[in-house]
Amino acid sequence: MQWDNFFFGPVRLGEHVLADFQQWLDQLDEPFSTVHVLVDSNTLTHCLPELMSQVPALAQCEVLEVDPGEETKSMAIVEQCWMSLLETGADRQSLLISLGGGVVTDLGGMLASTFMRGIAHVSIPTSLLGMVDAGIGGKHGVNVFGVKNLAGCFLESVYVAIWPGFLSTLPDEQFRAGFAEVVKHAILSGGELWEAVQGLTHLRDSGSMIDMAAQVKIQAVTADPFENSDSRKALNLGHGLAHAIETVSQGQVSHGDAVASGLWMEVAMAENLALIDPDDVAAIHAVLDRHWPRCTFTEGLWEALQSDKKRSKSKVMLSLSVGIGKGIAMTEVQAKDVHSVIAHHVAS
Ligand SMILES: NC(=O)c1ccc[n+]([C@@H]2O[C@H](COP(=O)([O-])OP(=O)(O)OC[C@H]3O[C@@H](n4cnc5c(N)ncnc54)[C@H](O)[C@@H]3O)[C@@H](O)[C@H]2O)c1
Repeated sequence: MQWDNFFFGPVRLGEHVLADFQQWLDQLDEPFSTVHVLVDSNTLTHCLPELMSQVPALAQCEVLEVDPGEETKSMAIVEQCWMSLLETGADRQSLLISLGGGVVTDLGGMLASTFMRGIAHVSIPTSLLGMVDAGIGGKHGVNVFGVKNLAGCFLESVYVAIWPGFLSTLPDEQFRAGFAEVVKHAILSGGELWEAVQGLTHLRDSGSMIDMAAQVKIQAVTADPFENSDSRKALNLGHGLAHAIETVSQGQVSHGDAVASGLWMEVAMAENLALIDPDDVAAIHAVLDRHWPRCTFTEGLWEALQSDKKRSKSKVMLSLSVGIGKGIAMTEVQAKDVHSVIAHHVAS
């Protein structure tokens, strides 16, 4: 699978994608002065050896390792990585490859766009969530004083290589986290992806949906690369409350699990506001309840939503679904709307 006219550089997906990446490196008119691969300690162990064996051109690369986990998305780590890049010879003609889940690709894009005012970036997502969402689309960022993605950038990756083989070492709970974004994309697209999501029993089988799910993200991003209109804002479905859950749980709930709870509560809110057919809500709740328990971090969500960066002037605006396969409506919500769906989520 390949998407050539994609605004954010070529995206390649499939069994031979790492060999294709090697070819792409080989045919460059001007090779990069140095190549740096950003990993966390898990992708260092599980993914880097495979990348090196399939892409021999990386034999001389410098490896930049960070700790796994959301805390790594911070300005303090960005500063440390800037210095490591400098110490290992990076200059403006260098390439930074992000090899990891959404934490690594978010951090790597931020690093590449700021180091010496910008160097080339390649994204090689290794988690399900990264392959269908975080690793594509050019949005990057870090958290500041506990506020998710407060500082960030849009950066065109010169190449995105999605090799599903990396998923063989992904822990089960990370499949569940990534599947939440697949469900989000399926709600947006409807059709074949939604049917596949409804029929899924074992989460480790969700790798077969990567191309359809990634396609939803690519279409939204191509239509609206800089999130100026509602088409890219559709990707925020479930994410207003998800970011609030991540904030109040202080990182104890993973991004993907927070998205699942965010989707549950936001479609219930859309039903209360008469935006969506109740049958669609029941079908979405059935999928979410099959794979996720209810969220226990429900105190302070309204306050967290109010401080979220997507607040428009003093209003809290959410991307609410108007039906499976029918898109979203940017909708102002009030404290009472949020409190009533939290009560429904906890009690039902
Ligand atoms: N930029 C965007 O458009 C965008 C979109 C969605 C999410 N995000 C961000 O993505 C992040 C979440 O991404 P994530 O869920 O991938 O988390 P993550 O990067 O923390 O990865 C999850 C865990 O899986 C491990 N891992 C990754 N690939 C592995 C593999 N192949 N084998 C074994 N272990 C592996 C990681 O080391 C980590 O421990 C959040 O910070 C979120 O804000 C960004």
